[in-house]
Amino acid sequence: MPSQPVRVDELRGFEAAVALVTGGASGIGRALGRALARRGAHVILADRQGDEAAAAAAQLRGEGGKAEAAALDVRDAAAVAATIDGVFTRHGRLDYLFNNAGIAISDEVQAIQLDEWRQSVEVNLMGVIHGVVAAYPRLRRQGFGHIVNTASMAGLSSTPMNAAYGATKHAVVSLSRSLRIEAKESGVRVSVLCPGVIRTPLLDGGRFGRDMSGAARGALREQHERLRPMDPDRFAERALDAVRDNRGLIILPRAWWLLYWIERLSPSLVDWLATIGVRQLRARRGTAPPPGDYPA
Ligand code: NAI
Repeated sequence: MPSQPVRVDELRGFEAAVALVTGGASGIGRALGRALARRGAHVILADRQGDEAAAAAAQLRGEGGKAEAAALDVRDAAAVAATIDGVFTRHGRLDYLFNNAGIAISDEVQAIQLDEWRQSVEVNLMGVIHGVVAAYPRLRRQGFGHIVNTASMAGLSSTPMNAAYGATKHAVVSLSRSLRIEAKESGVRVSVLCPGVIRTPLLDGGRFGRDMSGAARGALREQHERLRPMDPDRFAERALDAVRDNRGLIILPRAWWLLYWIERLSPSLVDWLATIGVRQLRARRGTAPPPGDYPA
């Protein structure tokens, strides 16, 4: 018989929780940090942009919140483990882990360099895995905790012009849904966050990714604008409500559930719509890429 974890405590509501947010210096992570702090949580904002994370944490403290920052590159498994260890050492617990750091490298497949594929996998997928591997056993021993992985709507349907990104986000959805089922008996909760389009620097490639190359630069942004990006603070509040309610799959803005259901009912219809989107994007780019124009 497997031994049951000794439960000395329970998952706290946000008002008394300890929460770690990766990618906490910008966009969705920063907004999640702000929303958590407003609800009373002690927040640790961890980010490769350490100075920006420190500034964000200082701002939260200035607003009366409890916040600290950590410089962290989620590609580094040992650094992720050390950051999580540090949280347990200082706070004696971890209630919420938001594996949120991510990059977007958006382009046609033939224009994505091998190193860019690796970067996408290292940050978007391995970064989440590093968080899970470091935290999950400890959360099991603790007997509670909630892991919230940020994937994307790009993890739920085809993503032409964004294949490297979409591939990693599909993997994050799969990992999260599987882990949610496995973790249930241990008291550890798992959710996957699938944002539609949120107004953050990522829409232009962000600090470590890139928008499309050459003439297409900005074209994807235009496409995003037509989808009415949601304000990150509004997004974060709604996301926290869904996390509080222990939703497994969190799709926001809610209108994106329509795409989710159409995808399930008729994937070929979604692919057809995406084909039109690709045609429009290429038209704005000027020319369709000639076959075999893989950059030297
Ligand atoms: P953002 O670019 O504003 O923030 C991403 C943060 O992650 C930045 O602070 C960046 O420094 C950090 N980061 C990047 N690489 C890192 C690394 N190796 N280690 C630690 N930190 C690193 O972008 P946004 O939009 O806030 O993205 C957050 C998450 O939301 C990402 O996982 C992204 O894929 C996802 N997402 C965003 C959408 C949007 O419309 N903005 C839509 C769907 C998903």
